Amino acid sequence: MNPAPDQFASIARGPGPGDEHDTLAARNSRLVPGDSIAVKIRRFDRAEGIAAYQEFSVPYRKWMRVLDVLNAIAERDAPDLAYRWFCGSKMCGTCAVRMNGREVLACWEAAEPNMTIEPLRNLPVIRDLVVDRAPYENKVASLEPWIARTSPYPQFPEPLNHRQMKDASKALDCIGCMCCYSACPVIGLGDLTNFAGPAPLVQLAQTALDPRNDPEKIKRSLAETGIFNCVSCYKCEEACPASIPIVSRIIEPLKAKAAQLVPEMAKHSLALRDIVATRGRVDPTALILRVQGYRVLSGLSRAIRLLMRGKIDPFKTVFNIRTGAASAASRLLGKDIHRK
Ligand code: SF4
Ligand code: SF4
Ligand code: FES
Repeated sequence: MNPAPDQFASIARGPGPGDEHDTLAARNSRLVPGDSIAVKIRRFDRAEGIAAYQEFSVPYRKWMRVLDVLNAIAERDAPDLAYRWFCGSKMCGTCAVRMNGREVLACWEAAEPNMTIEPLRNLPVIRDLVVDRAPYENKVASLEPWIARTSPYPQFPEPLNHRQMKDASKALDCIGCMCCYSACPVIGLGDLTNFAGPAPLVQLAQTALDPRNDPEKIKRSLAETGIFNCVSCYKCEEACPASIPIVSRIIEPLKAKAAQLVPEMAKHSLALRDIVATRGRVDPTALILRVQGYRVLSGLSRAIRLLMRGKIDPFKTVFNIRTGAASAASRLLGKDIHRK
């Protein structure tokens, strides 16, 4: 007999604190069988270039998920509705959509009394809820996320311990659903940045954070990521249905590796760290001078405006004024403040 949908939670993750309250039945508690679910779906046909919201009403059945609602609509009202799913059990990552403004897996998310269902953001829409994954897949391919060994394969099993693999192993939980990619505000800036985005970074981390990989190969891959465009807003982490700590265990370790292997990428971060370690405070004037050098002269009028508003204090910069926190900052950031 197949497990009921709410039983998949304990099969996939094992029981944990609060799990008994996190079943579909518990999350569906605002609905009783027969209630009417009001659904608004964004429909789009790339060939015709027309987008519009279409409304449906679906009678609630016990343990109904967003996917069940879509299936009901496709069976009864809109046989041409386009949406993707495959495993139905949080494994394949194909069913991700936006429901009421947040990224969810349709096969895992409980139905709600009022739902607006839209395709993921930051990827071209092919039709209705189906997006084109090619930009993500091309980016992942360009990052060459595989291992180039520096030493020959020693034996099976390879002598690797948990500490060596602790971050790479988190990345291996990724189901490639693109929820994080859709939630990332920096991807939405388009060509203004060259940021690869959270999902490709998670794919890269599977091998870039593996100690067996060749540092030269990791360096080449990291140089293609634009990783320092990430603003650490944690939107990706909030959206991840696999609960991957994307910022703390993937992006931050990758940024640290990039700072070590490709320091020119981390110019801004390294300068900021150095300034805080030596002065015990953020010094915007020193930071701009260190990052932009003589180019700062081209923005002189902006610098004057910042000065008038008290945002910068060249006096403190020129005389290298330190705060009382400088010693502690130096200790924490591992820098000798007397060097400067
Ligand atoms: S933390 Fe970085 S990758 Fe994640 S959503 Fe924010 S900007 Fe995007
Ligand atoms: S990191 Fe999480 S949200 Fe992003 S693609 Fe992988 S499973 Fe989906
Ligand atoms: S259908 Fe596979 S994760 Fe939802």
